[in-house]
Amino acid sequence: MRLRRSGSGRGRRRGRDGKTEKRRPRMRPRGKGARQERITLASSAAMMPAATLKPDSISMYDPRLLRELDWSQNTVTFSPAISPMNPGDGLVLRPLCITDINQGFLKVLGQLTETGAAGPEQFIKTFERMRNSGDYYVTVVEDTNLGEIVATATLIIEHKFTHSCAKRGRIEDVVVSGECRGKQLGKLLMSTLTLLSKRLNCYKITLECLPKNVAFYEKFGYLVSEENYMYQRFFN
Ligand SMILES: CC(C)(COP(=O)(O)OP(=O)(O)OC[C@H]1O[C@@H](n2cnc3c(N)ncnc32)[C@H](O)[C@@H]1OP(=O)(O)O)[C@@H](O)C(=O)NCCC(=O)NCCS
Repeated sequence: MRLRRSGSGRGRRRGRDGKTEKRRPRMRPRGKGARQERITLASSAAMMPAATLKPDSISMYDPRLLRELDWSQNTVTFSPAISPMNPGDGLVLRPLCITDINQGFLKVLGQLTETGAAGPEQFIKTFERMRNSGDYYVTVVEDTNLGEIVATATLIIEHKFTHSCAKRGRIEDVVVSGECRGKQLGKLLMSTLTLLSKRLNCYKITLECLPKNVAFYEKFGYLVSEENYMYQRFFN
């Protein structure tokens, strides 16, 4: 790990008697080293049982973004009324935390698609990469009584040279755990991330879905495009 001295004075300071004396260097990890240290810390967090994890573990993005959303701009009806800050009894809507690997995050994603057999190290690397990019807004709903993630959806920001170097939002990986469906959590996540994309100045937002889910997304103002969605799959 590369360590850099903080402060100036080339390692000397003025003592009480006015003479200079050698400063004891304060070592602080910087750059790649600091990142490595965070990963190491996170690695040990990923090995810990959930009960011992601190609630303020590393977030994918700044949670204030959710607190500061203007919910009055939400266009969908909620009955009973819920919001990002009040998602319901015992529930919290928040950014993904690095320790959520221990809280059933992958189990929920697995109800949408194949999650594969990635271990904690790989999870942490991907988390760090997403977090450092600043363009991934992986959002979860946690049932705090169970200490488990019960729903998730992701907003990704894509940077363009077109439209005056605009940003475009993409919604991915929307899933609510089987036991929690029909409790408005899918709606809450979609409304939240759609508003967040506006707040982040995206000029548009898109998503791909199966025909059976079109009606769900139309609730939030999404339109079926005339463009085709094309793909090649290289592996699963
Ligand atoms: C689709 C999904 C995210 C919806 O989440 P949910 O929490 O069950 O849905 P909500 O309770 O928030 O939805 C409430 C509203 O959407 C409607 N709705 C739910 N699923 C729907 C669907 N697939 N198609 C159309 N409408 C749907 C409900 O009827 C309800 O309507 P209302 O508000 O008028 O009463 C959830 O069913 C799910 O995880 N499905 C499996 C994974 C999946 O297909 N994800 C989408 C990938 S594109």
